[in-house]
Amino acid sequence: MGGATSPQFAAAVSNAGGLGMLALGWSPPEAVRAEIRATKALTERPFGVNLVLTYPQEERLAICLEEGVAVVSFFWGQAGSLTVAAHRGGATVLHTAGSAEQARISAEDGADAIVAQGWEAGGHVYGRVATMALVPAVVDQVAPVPVLAAGGIADGRGLAAAMALGAAGALDRYPLSREHRSSNPSALSRPHPHSQGDGHRIRDCFQRRLARRSAP
Ligand SMILES: Cc1cc2nc3c(=O)[nH]c(=O)nc-3n(C[C@H](O)[C@H](O)[C@H](O)COP(=O)(O)O)c2cc1C
Repeated sequence: MGGATSPQFAAAVSNAGGLGMLALGWSPPEAVRAEIRATKALTERPFGVNLVLTYPQEERLAICLEEGVAVVSFFWGQAGSLTVAAHRGGATVLHTAGSAEQARISAEDGADAIVAQGWEAGGHVYGRVATMALVPAVVDQVAPVPVLAAGGIADGRGLAAAMALGAAGALDRYPLSREHRSSNPSALSRPHPHSQGDGHRIRDCFQRRLARRSAP
């Protein structure tokens, strides 16, 4: 979750048995290395980095691999040769897709798991299909590559529903914690917006895709 991750937050998620993520897609190279090292100091468990493909990522990816990051997650475009480079560096690759076709291409590129991001997701939204319709379509398209559901999964019931549709797990933003660093601290006291029904504003953003955030 760009802008809201931190070494403390990522390490806390990994230490709790999840996969903590650092969003480093637009961080200066020295910050990429520093954030990874700070996270490594707080957890011995695997964690991942997210690189948004709107920006060139060769240099950031190289630093992540030098630092031995276990998982690299790509979003907002096709990763192509970056997936190959990540594998050569020993990392597992996740790729977020907003359609079954995009998921198919990412799987052919060699992604180890696909994040099927539905229309309900917060932040930047790449597709226009609802999560519970997208997940089985992506599962059918990329099997046996595992699929993680994202978008509107606010509790265990949502996770169970996604898994009933073939997902291997879920990726979401609801485990907000004391370690979470947000530009809006009041987000800490709010439940996931999907747990209360509608509560979003949607606008176009770069590349004419959609950005979504919780309504105040
Ligand atoms: C504020 C915010 C920022 C986000 N930034 C990123 C990002 O930088 N990279 C990325 O791959 N996904 C990003 N996402 C999307 C999440 O990875 C995920 O797809 C989404 O949060 C799941 O849906 P949910 O918000 O309904 O839980 C962001 C989401 C939010 C809410």
